[in-house]
Amino acid sequence: MPSVLIKTYGCQMNERDSEQVASMFRAAGYELTADEAEADVYLINTCSVREKAELKALGKMGQLCARPEAKPWTVYGFMGCMSQSLGEAIFREVPRVDLVAGTQQYHHVYEICNRLLRSRLGMHIDRPLRRGAHICTTATEEGFQNMVTEHLDDGGKCSAFVSIAQGCDMHCSYCIVPSTRGPEVSRPAADIVAEVRELVSRGIKEVTLLGQIVNRYGRQEGLVDGKGAFVRLLEALHDIEGLERLRYTSPHPIGFREDLVQAYTYLPKLCSHIHFPMQSGSDRILRAMYRPYKNETYLALCEALRAARPDLAITTDIIVGFPGETDEDFAATVAAVERVQFDNAFIFKYSPRRGTVAAGLPDQVPARIKEQRNHELLEVTNRIAVARNRALVGTQQVILVEGPSKSNPDRLQGRSSQNKPVIITEGQAEVGSLVPVQIRECTGFTLYGSV
Ligand code: 5AD
Ligand code: SF4
Repeated sequence: MPSVLIKTYGCQMNERDSEQVASMFRAAGYELTADEAEADVYLINTCSVREKAELKALGKMGQLCARPEAKPWTVYGFMGCMSQSLGEAIFREVPRVDLVAGTQQYHHVYEICNRLLRSRLGMHIDRPLRRGAHICTTATEEGFQNMVTEHLDDGGKCSAFVSIAQGCDMHCSYCIVPSTRGPEVSRPAADIVAEVRELVSRGIKEVTLLGQIVNRYGRQEGLVDGKGAFVRLLEALHDIEGLERLRYTSPHPIGFREDLVQAYTYLPKLCSHIHFPMQSGSDRILRAMYRPYKNETYLALCEALRAARPDLAITTDIIVGFPGETDEDFAATVAAVERVQFDNAFIFKYSPRRGTVAAGLPDQVPARIKEQRNHELLEVTNRIAVARNRALVGTQQVILVEGPSKSNPDRLQGRSSQNKPVIITEGQAEVGSLVPVQIRECTGFTLYGSV
């Protein structure tokens, strides 16, 4: 049986896309492997959001292609955002690569790899592919809209990602995504409900809805009873019996209306966590980022959300060293962080991306200053994260038990409604069940407790 190895960089959207491709290989009889010595097909699903992610993927592929023990028929392919964005140029970077498939071409990946592998193995096929490089990066949004979704049935998995929208029309000045994922497209609600029902029938308890700007889902549809399409979708999914938890990522302040804030008061399955990118606390920088709202609007939304759901955990993304960011702008970001008291924050040093407006701005911030601000902000966010977790010691948290802990396979691990990893140090629980855990200890990232 031939085997395929898929390595994924980047966001959850990429993880979900990789899963979709993996299921197509598996349905055709391939084995999925994590063993680099074994695979007949290597695929890397790439991210373009920062330069580092691209260099990592290119380096990894170069290394895989250069293995002296590689089987001579091995097929190598790139998919995802970097493929979409760099296209043919990738063949110059790593000449051994056979396939470059863009973000809306996942459905072709299996077919091309399989044909290449079979023709190299001398097996009979109807229409052999020529040897050498294959590229498919033409955008086809309809493909996404009418997607037949497949999930890996891994028995024991209790949580799944579901893509509900993709692409982005916001054009933040730093961001490459609109050019890699194309314009915003939403899937029909009926397809999403059917997909979640199917997942629940297989034992899935928690779904995370994915979209570049997930709360703009179906925004052309208008309001019904004061509720937008996204909230109506949440309600429809909430009604599915057997589904225990509902999450989504990532929302944007634009289009974040009162109906979504209110949803936290009457949808108990909607988890007490939101990953809500702030990017900057300075209005001047937000404007230069083409994020058309004031920081105060963002802060007011966080406060309204915490009023609607007092135990809500808020995590965020922040970029430091955006072109033109002064000490004063950075101080505004630190002040906003102190005001929101984020449960966790991902801090990114600004990375100029080809074809984006910000890459061409004057006043690029020197690497040394980006590093310094990154360090300084991390100290603030880590201190707050520890304090937020300490406040949970002594409380009871219901966790969805996911499986053995990665650091110590003798202990089970799950996540709380606030999306915090919780390690069970005492007592029994079943994988896939929801159990109350008494929190006894914590770090800035993880909670420990007994059932
Ligand atoms: N440089 C640094 N960080 C970026 N992000 C997006 N584009 C860039 C860039 N050019 C960050 C944003 C986004 C997260 C996924 O990555 O904070 O929310
Ligand atoms: Fe990276 Fe953005 Fe593509 Fe996700 S959508 S893989 S974050 S570039």
